[in-house]
Parts: sequence; C-alpha cells; structure tokens
Amino acid sequence: MSVRVLVTGGAGFLGSHLCDALLAESHSVVCVDNLLTGRSSNIEHLRNETRFEFQQADITQPFDFGAVEYVFHLASPASPVDYTNYSIETLKVGSLGTFNALEVAKKYRVRFFFSSTSECYGDPLEHPQKATYWGNVNPIGLRSMYDESKRFSEATVMAYHRTHKVDTRIVRIFNTYGPRMQLNDGRVVPNFMKQALRGDDLTIYGDGRQTRSFCYVADEIEGFLRLAKSDEHLPVNIGNPNEFTMLECAEIVLRVTGSKSRLRFEPLPPDDPKQRRPDITKAHTLLGWEPKVSLEEGLKLSLDYFRSAVEATA
Ligand SMILES: NC(=O)c1ccc[n+]([C@@H]2O[C@H](COP(=O)([O-])OP(=O)(O)OC[C@H]3O[C@@H](n4cnc5c(N)ncnc54)[C@H](O)[C@@H]3O)[C@@H](O)[C@H]2O)c1
Repeated sequence: MSVRVLVTGGAGFLGSHLCDALLAESHSVVCVDNLLTGRSSNIEHLRNETRFEFQQADITQPFDFGAVEYVFHLASPASPVDYTNYSIETLKVGSLGTFNALEVAKKYRVRFFFSSTSECYGDPLEHPQKATYWGNVNPIGLRSMYDESKRFSEATVMAYHRTHKVDTRIVRIFNTYGPRMQLNDGRVVPNFMKQALRGDDLTIYGDGRQTRSFCYVADEIEGFLRLAKSDEHLPVNIGNPNEFTMLECAEIVLRVTGSKSRLRFEPLPPDDPKQRRPDITKAHTLLGWEPKVSLEEGLKLSLDYFRSAVEATA
C-alpha cells in the first residue's frame, strides 16, 4: 500500500537516502528541511519525481503540510563540526523541533519514527552497548548540545507515546557513512577519504588504537524501514558491530583509494569516546536485521562520490 510520508531533515545525508528508499517502496514523500546542514544537491535527482515534494522550512516553528500517514523525524545537525557550529540550533531542533514533529503525528494519528544516536550512551562504561544501557554522558561537555538534545528528544517521544498514545519508534544510529556525506564534517570516513584522495597525510588522533564501528548507509536505511514497520516502541540500535581501530581504518582507506598518503598523529580531542560498538542482538531478533556490507565494500561503493566531491573543491 502506498502512503504519504513526511521526512524531516530529508535533504540531509541519511534523510535523502530514506526519501529514495520510501519512493522505491512506491510511497509519496514530503521532505521538510531548512538546509541548515543538508544540501539541495542531495535531492536534486528527485526534482522531476511527482511523488516527491520539498518544503523548505524550519521545524523549530510549528508546521503542517497536510495529512500524512507516517512521520520520520531526522532533522538535526549530526556531525561534530555541525553541532559545534550550530549548538543552539541543535538544542532547538532536538526540543522544539521534536515537539512540532510529534504534534503532526498526534494530529493525524499516525506513526512516528525518531532518529536518535549512539551519542546517548556518551563515553560508555558498558561495551558493547545494549539499547537498555542508560549511558555515561557529560551534560556540560563539548558534545553535550547534541547528546542531551537527543536524550531530551527520546524522553519527549516516550512522553507522547505514554500520554497521547502516539505510535512511536526510536532508532539509535551508530556511525553511518556513504555517498552524500559532507566532505568537511569532521567524521573519520570523509576525513580519511578526502585526505587520501588529495594525497594529504591522514590525521590520526591519539595513538590510533581507539575503535569505531562503521555502518554502510544502505544497511542503515534497511534497518530503519524494518523498525518502522515493526511494533517496537523502545529504542533499537542499528549499526555495524565490526570494530576497527583508526589505524586499521586508515589502512583500508589507503587500499581502496590506492593512495600513497602517510599518517600524521595529533593529540586526542577532549570528550572523544574511546570505544563505541552496538549490541545489535535486539535488531537481529526483532527485525531479522544485520548489516551486510563490509567496510572495504562500502568504501568502494562510496569512492566515486568522494572522488567527485574532492574534485568539486579542487
Ligand atoms: N550519520 C550518522 O552517522 C548519524 C549517527 C547517529 C545519528 N544520526 C542522526 O540521523 C539524523 C540525520 O543525520 P545526517 O547524518 O543525515 O545529518 P545531516 O546534517 O546530513 O542531515 C540533517 C538534516 O536536518 C536538517 N535540519 C537541521 N535542523 C533543521 C530544522 N530546524 N528544520 C528543518 N531541517 C533541519 C539539515 O538541514 C539536514 O538536511 C540526525 O538526526 C542525526 O542526529 C546520524
């Protein structure tokens, strides 16, 4: 059955891939975005798609673009560079924006999907992190505007679920990469790809033994869709549990790009989590979901995008 779906943050990295996936399932999509950190080029290919509608609007103001049958709420700066530059906007979209998006779901009595984050776990004391873990977050730290906005949003989503019986879902997204990521967003994959393709040194913070897990965007979106169709109201982790040290990741990037770049070591930034890896047992049991694309394959699939993005800035 095809329905009209609203996606906040639909011109962003993940939002635009979600719009593509919903259109591929023959739904109609209303994409609402103020282009704060997203780009119209991410949805340019949908310009002539009659089932796609773009509304440029700031969702920290109340909004209503007509009846919809599902609300996906993704709008929020997401990369460390963006939420540092837009700290107040991040707190506003994670509070006022979440209320306004929930009001739409409440008004039309439809399901609501919220994109939360592994940052809710802060610098975790439990490893890997299960969705039942409450986290170890510094409420005034350099990432607090993002972490606390997402934790506040989760609380708001649960309050609408318990008080107004809105049918809600919460996904806790772990590090996702792929085409349409911003080159300068400060995250590991675009940083390394950009540096490798330009022949610059790859910057390693600390000794490079801290680990991260990386999920390819197509796997992440498949997880969203499965969760959206499920009946689970409590948070579900969607991410790739395979851990790589920064040194291993750099090695794979050099192999995929064929670059001769060297490594340059710099001090570890404050509040940088040492380790973060999802426990995806719940997604596996409940949704039959697990990631399929390895880091090396995902980087190969992203290579053309990063190459043209680097060329465009040359
Ligand atoms: N990419 C990841 O690895 C990752 C990890 C964890 C969580 N997430 C979450 O997924 C969502 C999407 O992340 P992304 O990586 O695609 O980031 P992104 O910055 O590419 O996309 C976010 C979009 O939200 C829009 N936006 C921000 N404030 C808005 C406002 N007030 N009104 C309307 N639109 C607004 C931006 O313009 C942008 O298009 C975010 O909620 C983020 O917190 C992403």
